[in-house]
Amino acid sequence: MKWTMRYETLTRWAKEEWEKRNPDTPYQVLWASDSCGNQLAHRRIRPGRSMKGNARYITQVALECPEIVQISEYVIPRTKPMLGESVGAYSFRFQKGSQEFEVLYAATYYRDDDPNIIAIAIVPEVHLETWVSFEQLCNEVVRRPSRRQDVYIIGGTNTHFKPNVDWDDVVLHEELKEDLRLDMESFFKNGVPIYKELNLAPFRKLLLVGPPGTGKTMLCAAMANLALKKRRVVVYVSGADEDGASFHKIHHALNVVANAGYPVLLIVEEIDVYLRKEDKARILNVLDGLESPNNPKGALLLATTNYPEVIDERISKRPGRLDRIFVIPPIEDRELAEAMLQRYMGPQWQKDHAEVVPRLIDQTGAFVREVALHARMLAAHNQKTIVTREMLDQSVDALSNQLAAGDDLMPRRKVGFSTKRKNGYAGLVPVEDTN
Ligand SMILES: Nc1ncnc2c1ncn2[C@@H]1O[C@H](COP(=O)(O)OP(=O)(O)O)[C@@H](O)[C@H]1O
Ligand SMILES: [Mg+2]
Repeated sequence: MKWTMRYETLTRWAKEEWEKRNPDTPYQVLWASDSCGNQLAHRRIRPGRSMKGNARYITQVALECPEIVQISEYVIPRTKPMLGESVGAYSFRFQKGSQEFEVLYAATYYRDDDPNIIAIAIVPEVHLETWVSFEQLCNEVVRRPSRRQDVYIIGGTNTHFKPNVDWDDVVLHEELKEDLRLDMESFFKNGVPIYKELNLAPFRKLLLVGPPGTGKTMLCAAMANLALKKRRVVVYVSGADEDGASFHKIHHALNVVANAGYPVLLIVEEIDVYLRKEDKARILNVLDGLESPNNPKGALLLATTNYPEVIDERISKRPGRLDRIFVIPPIEDRELAEAMLQRYMGPQWQKDHAEVVPRLIDQTGAFVREVALHARMLAAHNQKTIVTREMLDQSVDALSNQLAAGDDLMPRRKVGFSTKRKNGYAGLVPVEDTN
């Protein structure tokens, strides 16, 4: 028995159809992008749009093809569902001068159990350039994030997240938090028109600096939440996948930022990693404005690092590279230490717990969280309903010793909003990618 691949079947059908519809017109069979079949592209590319090769796009018509069952996925960017990725056969119609021509396109799933789509196109030989520009446009409009209520991730294994950190969950000095929040708000509200007046790309750059565990990632997630509430697009660059921190991710992110069509909050965590590699010159170009995204609605970069030294040399000594640096310090005073401990003791909080507060000064939020969790588990283990002050002291001892022994509580480089809410980490919960 001879196996026929899906693309061979599609091509055979398309060639026969072509001969019937366009006899004696020389053509090329091409691999095509699945974006051309995506209903988002069909909706977003307006009839009459001009293409390379002096042609205009007219419309798209679905064709009957016995080899393909026409089927679409829907996406819910806001309230009402819309059709997105699709398989099927289409005729894309273009006009050049007074002449019309078509491209036949067929897309289907590679196998039944495989979400990948294969697509082919039959293109008139003399109009390849037009088709290529149309295909590129489809790719662009499909990749453009919709103004959705979650974070668009570049890199990493999930493509979208919903941040679950509330602004009030972050325990830091109110002035510091307010300063950061106002910086974002006043940039989008008042800053963007000023940049535009000066003919500058509205791109503002903020950096959060501080030792591991002080809440920088948490703050990013909380800022993301605020931004989403204001219906801004949030783009998050993660280094947590197999290609690690590579410039191509930043590059992809900047493309998304530039084409978003909405105000964007761009979060790049652990930016120092990118600055250590060969690509650093390009990152610096981005910060300097040579390669910065030009999104007319405004783009705010929120970057974080645990290693101010790296930033020191390359960035802070050069004006214009970063607009503001916010230092996120360990716990500096009793008031904050107590607030932090209360937060993580939750309903188990007792008045006399405040006695361990002096021991928490100069520690981080992550440390206090571990102390509280440890003490609460200790109580549960001993079948106690109340966490005593002794248990808390014990747990401070245990964790301090552990830290002193060099068994670092915080992994050196935890990249990404944590998804582990269960054990007390606050961060982002993955949601299904629907785009
Ligand atoms: N300022 C803070 N307020 C509340 N919780 C904090 C704070 N800092 C740290 N934590 C706790 O420690 C965890 C780790 O902090 P994280 O934001 O990842 O620190 P960083 O990114 O600065 O290394 C958080 O998920 C949170 O549970
Ligand atoms: Mg972090």
